[in-house]
Amino acid sequence: MTRVFVPRDSGALAVGAEPVARAIAREAEARNIPVEIVRTGSRGLYWLEPMIEVETGAGRIAYGPVAAADVASLFDAGFVGGGTHAKRLGPPERIPFLARQTRLTFARCGITDPLSLDDYRAHGGYRGLEHALTLGPGGIVDTVTKSGLRGRGGAGFPTGIKWKTVADAASLQKYIVCNADEGDSGTFADRMVMEGDPFMLIEGMTIAGLAVRATQGFVYIRSEYPHAVATMEAAIAIARRAGMLGKVIGGGPLAFDIEVRVGAGAYVCGEETSLLESLEGKRGVVRAKPPLPAHKGLFGKPTVINNVLSFAAIPFILIEGAQAYAEFGMGKSRGTMPIQLAGNVKHGGLFETPFGITLGELVDDIGGGTVSGRPVKAVQVGGPLGAYFPRALFDTPFDYETFAKRDGLIGHGGIVVFDDTVDMAKQARFAFEFCAHESCGKCTPCRIGATRGVETVERIIAGDRRAENLAVVEDLCHTMKFGSLCALGGFTPYPVMSALTHFPDDFQAPPKGTHVQAAE
Ligand SMILES: Cc1cc2nc3c(=O)[nH]c(=O)nc-3n(C[C@H](O)[C@H](O)[C@H](O)COP(=O)(O)O)c2cc1C
Ligand code: SF4
Repeated sequence: MTRVFVPRDSGALAVGAEPVARAIAREAEARNIPVEIVRTGSRGLYWLEPMIEVETGAGRIAYGPVAAADVASLFDAGFVGGGTHAKRLGPPERIPFLARQTRLTFARCGITDPLSLDDYRAHGGYRGLEHALTLGPGGIVDTVTKSGLRGRGGAGFPTGIKWKTVADAASLQKYIVCNADEGDSGTFADRMVMEGDPFMLIEGMTIAGLAVRATQGFVYIRSEYPHAVATMEAAIAIARRAGMLGKVIGGGPLAFDIEVRVGAGAYVCGEETSLLESLEGKRGVVRAKPPLPAHKGLFGKPTVINNVLSFAAIPFILIEGAQAYAEFGMGKSRGTMPIQLAGNVKHGGLFETPFGITLGELVDDIGGGTVSGRPVKAVQVGGPLGAYFPRALFDTPFDYETFAKRDGLIGHGGIVVFDDTVDMAKQARFAFEFCAHESCGKCTPCRIGATRGVETVERIIAGDRRAENLAVVEDLCHTMKFGSLCALGGFTPYPVMSALTHFPDDFQAPPKGTHVQAAE
């Protein structure tokens, strides 16, 4: 029986993976060719989706992008044996976009059946937990600290230090919360993990539970991710049935369980304290810090709250050791970063690579420039609160500190590409507008400042007292940056000021009538 792999990732489903899977089943039956269709996550080469793979004696052979209408001709061409066809891509690992990656976190994604525990184990799954059990809480925290792993949700806080704070907190009840709100524009890595390798997240959270002695975990997933919610729910049920979640894990002394909670669709609910409020059933409003969630988090108890990618990095670190992870990267940015290329880019997708790669390599070499074929004018890195970088800064290496020095942020690793038709004054307006729309309303600089920002940029765009209004925008940004309670108001100045600093002409020239490219 030949195995054919068809992704069930949302990105592949959106471009027709389901009809392709059905057509393969139909055609195989009609031709009496024994085929087993395995549904996988995505490899993350989204411009090639639906990308299907077939297992041959010489390894897997990929075809893409495949439409249902291609399936009969694929059978005619003998694709079940890896035959030649216009859509044949060859061995997937030799496609340059994949060949250039270092996949530690995404090693299994697109390869295994996300809901097969056997497949997961056969590809190294649960070896991290096994080793963690031999290390004990102190050893785990030590290993995570030494790996240099920093939170992948945006702030880049050292994960080991956070875990130690919770481990040291005196409380009978502690919680593990996974932040899967993934609100940043152009990002999808969390979703890919949950849909493509959910047991990895479950294992990472279980190890966190063991490290800090927490018995209950929650995954807070944005409502826009119904497939991720369904896959996580199914994986949790499978893990429970197999004794890998619940009162007694793996027959040992460890108890840990996980529940999924679905967010209601507010960007600010990705902010950790707002998320905790939402998880408690309240409105998603930011809490003042201190106390930190590590001391007083969910229901007032010490809580580890980490991004999906932070937890997902844990099994590798526990299996291969802190040093193996820390060997990758530059400066204080250790390990790999799953970077997401999106927007007006030819080769959009998931590119996991050690820190240190430059923006130019990512956008021009790996992303292949714009899909429109026009020159790249700007890229926004790190979501809607991230700075716009001009081509002149494409030598910037992916590294938390270097980005900060250049008034930018890495955030969750999303890069949104814009071509030369973008009007940066309108993008600056959009940044304020986004903040005004998403503000939780708790503090004045953000609640009022963002709305004043929209009005002021509109005046600039209309050519009304440009110099004075530009000064008002700068002043407003200063107030928001230093007076806001959280990074929604505090970081909105990044996209605004970077647009002003790097693209001043767009604020001087008369309105060009070009459209605003909303980066969502
Ligand atoms: C407005 C706002 C939105 C955020 N959205 C997310 C999000 O969608 N996912 C996420 O993991 N972190 C998000 N964060 C960061 C979290 O507050 C927090 O730093 C993170 O969950 C900690 O996990 P980490 O240390 O693993 O990154 C957001 C922060 C702010 C201020
Ligand atoms: S900065 Fe905005 S989102 Fe953050 S607490 Fe203040 S009002 Fe709420």
